[in-house]
Amino acid sequence: MVAKSRAKTGADDDGPWQPAPVPATSDLSEVEEAAKICTACHLYKRGTQTVFGEGPRRAKLLMLGEQPGDQEDLAGKPFVGPAGKLLDRALEETGIDRSEVYVTNTVKHFKWEPRGKRRIHQKPNSREIAACRPWMEAELRLVKPKVLVCLGSTAAQAIFGASFRVTRQRGVVLSSEFAARVVATVHPSSLLRQPDEEARAREYALFVADLKVAAKATAA
Ligand code: URA
Repeated sequence: MVAKSRAKTGADDDGPWQPAPVPATSDLSEVEEAAKICTACHLYKRGTQTVFGEGPRRAKLLMLGEQPGDQEDLAGKPFVGPAGKLLDRALEETGIDRSEVYVTNTVKHFKWEPRGKRRIHQKPNSREIAACRPWMEAELRLVKPKVLVCLGSTAAQAIFGASFRVTRQRGVVLSSEFAARVVATVHPSSLLRQPDEEARAREYALFVADLKVAAKATAA
């Protein structure tokens, strides 16, 4: 396995940056193969492996997160950790079948820093997001979802630009060059960080309401 044999230095921003080398193909699995050996930014040295999107190639609904977390990095699959479990619960409650959704991330490697024995999530910076962007654009171009759901500000700003604020523009149907209908909402991990049960329940209900907007837009 290519990624596992690489050194994990944890070093930041080392060396020149290249845009990710996306092959000119309409076959998403060929794009995924190329992404597995991407070295466009330094994050490949830190993550275990590239975590590419998964789901039906012709999915009507595409969900875009920020970057794989600790468990996703180990499993090689997006949204399988605590945030993913919460997303699964919310999707079920919304009546969306996850197996019909293409799920991916803005950045395909886990960015983390060590704290004791734990690997703590770090937000990707604008250069890392830019280096990884061609993979996201290829997924959006090839899946061509009817509806794109941006989970959190990293995803929403990758689609709408840095001035986009999820707090102000969540839960409404917008449009972009990547999908005719786009709904932005919070990242499910933000629900896990709520200070108490009451806040968690309130934020979860708002999250489900946003997903219902996306479900309705998908069915329309
Ligand atoms: N958070 C994300 O944005 N993506 C994942 O795949 C997991 C957690």
